[in-house]
Amino acid sequence: MDFTGVQSTMLVTLFLKALDAEETEPVLGDRFAAEAVDRIDYDWAKLDKPTITRNRFGLALRTRQIDDWTADFLRRNPDATVLHLACGLDARAFRLDLPDGVRWFDVDLPDVIALRRELYEDADGYRMIGASVTGEDWLAEIPAGKPVFVIAEGLLMYLHEAEVWQLLGRLTEHFGTGELVFDGVLPWVAKLTQVLKKYLNRWYDYPAYWTPIRDGSDIARWNPRLLYRDHVALVAQYDRIPDRKLQRAYRLMSRFGPVRNYLRVFRADF
Ligand SMILES: C[S@@+](CC[C@H](N)C(=O)[O-])C[C@H]1O[C@@H](n2cnc3c(N)ncnc32)[C@H](O)[C@@H]1O
Repeated sequence: MDFTGVQSTMLVTLFLKALDAEETEPVLGDRFAAEAVDRIDYDWAKLDKPTITRNRFGLALRTRQIDDWTADFLRRNPDATVLHLACGLDARAFRLDLPDGVRWFDVDLPDVIALRRELYEDADGYRMIGASVTGEDWLAEIPAGKPVFVIAEGLLMYLHEAEVWQLLGRLTEHFGTGELVFDGVLPWVAKLTQVLKKYLNRWYDYPAYWTPIRDGSDIARWNPRLLYRDHVALVAQYDRIPDRKLQRAYRLMSRFGPVRNYLRVFRADF
């Protein structure tokens, strides 16, 4: 099994979650990721490099924050619809204790969902949809009318801004009201990936980021129906990191705004 392009990034996040799960005191402790890595026939050694593995806690913090916000929304709305965009092989629907009334939709590109179906099955209240979120038809399959929680983890930065506008326009139009959570990088991070891609394509295997976020006001610029609520800088959560050396590095990073804020998770209402 192998993937190229943007799909390959979900193997990295899966691998990093599996590494975090090996810790005695993990940040996320995702046993599903560890099991999936064991089951998928892929040369994981390709990802086992310090430049990649040193991100395991940053990634686990991002996923944990979104898990916490999802659980919080579901406590308040036990009959909610959850739309988990760009789910990759993430097992959020199984990690969380879902109230019986929740309907959960995991969406990703068709080849990713085909692999996902080898690991997990559709069930009562749980469905996988293989489609590009930039396409038009897939959203019609998801019923509106319930409180909706939309998760876009590791997605918006890979889209061009016009695609983000279009996606958010379709979501707010279809559901009318709900909450959106997503992670975003600062403009300098996006620029850096674009330069790496352009000049060092041979060494830089991953797609560039196209849509960064400066601050919460960008959200209303993308879609005036979205109301920025709050955000969390993941680097600032260094005290949750079990590895002393990485914890020190994150603490140092948290002192400099542009580094502290390079990856944040945002929440908005509509
Ligand atoms: C960095 S991974 C994140 C996966 C997962 N959210 C996680 O955190 O482990 C990015 C994911 O976005 C998906 N993706 C990128 N563009 C997409 C699109 N247009 N439609 C649906 N999924 C997309 C990729 O296939 C990949 O699974």
